[in-house]
Amino acid sequence: MAVMKGFRMMIDKLKASPKRIVFTEGTDERILEAASRLLAGNFLTPILVGDPKEVKDAAEEYGYNVRGAEIIAPNNFDRMDEMVELLCELRKSKNMQPEEARKLCSQGNYFGTMLVKMGIADSLLGGATYSTADTVRPALQIIKTKPGHSIVGSCFIMVRPSATGDNEVLAMGDCAINIRPNEDELAEIAVGAAECGKIFGIDPKVAFLSYSTLGSGKGEDVDKMRNAAAKAKAMRPDLAIEGELQFDAAVSPRVARTKCPDSPVAGHANTFVFPDINAGNIGYKIAQRLGNFDAYGPILLGLNAPINDLSRGCNAEEVYSMAIITAALVDE
Ligand SMILES: CC(C)(COP(=O)(O)OP(=O)(O)OC[C@H]1O[C@@H](n2cnc3c(N)ncnc32)[C@H](O)[C@@H]1OP(=O)(O)O)[C@@H](O)C(=O)NCCC(=O)NCCS
Repeated sequence: MAVMKGFRMMIDKLKASPKRIVFTEGTDERILEAASRLLAGNFLTPILVGDPKEVKDAAEEYGYNVRGAEIIAPNNFDRMDEMVELLCELRKSKNMQPEEARKLCSQGNYFGTMLVKMGIADSLLGGATYSTADTVRPALQIIKTKPGHSIVGSCFIMVRPSATGDNEVLAMGDCAINIRPNEDELAEIAVGAAECGKIFGIDPKVAFLSYSTLGSGKGEDVDKMRNAAAKAKAMRPDLAIEGELQFDAAVSPRVARTKCPDSPVAGHANTFVFPDINAGNIGYKIAQRLGNFDAYGPILLGLNAPINDLSRGCNAEEVYSMAIITAALVDE
């Protein structure tokens, strides 16, 4: 029941300290359904980006009650001049001019991100129709990384429901953002994924994945994962970390006994660090499509405010779950 417990804890946190979340695609049917459920739960205020009449008409057409949501459109936002000025200031190193800033602020993805920057919202969920790059780029440019972080990474929380209620919960990173992370970046992603997993009840055992187990294979990519694991251990000696490991050695106690009997992680890993986005993106989708895991994410790690990206193929249930996860990540 780990993930159910995780969700319950997040909802309790939001009930104690309600938050506002921007949805950048306010007329999308899945967003409207999720927003109506959130409003009924009374622990999260949706801010829907879109023309108020169009949003209300869409909600009526699809049969969802979004009374209580704030609906804001760039073209009738009364603080637009202030927003444009702030964006120019934030992007002055790029010599951004008011005309370009105004154009960006008229797009839902930049407008929503600026609402977070201005403190009008605490968090953002987008990507029902925007691509990952178009959802994430404004966050990277405007919200930036948290102090002490050098990159924004991401992880998926993977949940395989079980009839007994004893769900299997894993964390996987980085399957969505960093295309070819270096050793330091991999170490940072590992720590972020381990910390994120804890929120979902995982006691992290982190495996840096490779085609080699503790020196069995040779190559630059093997060295990279071994060195990254060593860097992660140095960063966080309190975490159980091993690498490099093949996937079978990471998850099968029998294989682990043969290949690396002394490892405290091998055979029992539940937090996986992939060498690059190719491996990560393919890996989590194999678990999802062939292994019957539900995928929650990508959850962005290391941003100054929680902003998350939906898959364009998402359904309303996923929007609802991701909204709760996103808002619960707001720092108090
Ligand atoms: C995330 C991503 C969109 C950024 O790409 P981009 O916008 O072309 O990146 P750029 O190099 O132009 O950088 C844009 C800004 O973001 C910053 N940035 C880029 N990647 C970053 C990262 N991982 N962490 C922190 N900042 C980052 C850059 O420093 C730059 O900041 P600046 O404009 O203030 O100088 C890109 O890495 C990407 O496409 N990743 C794969 C996404 C994807 O397709 N995933 C698969 C589906 S889930």
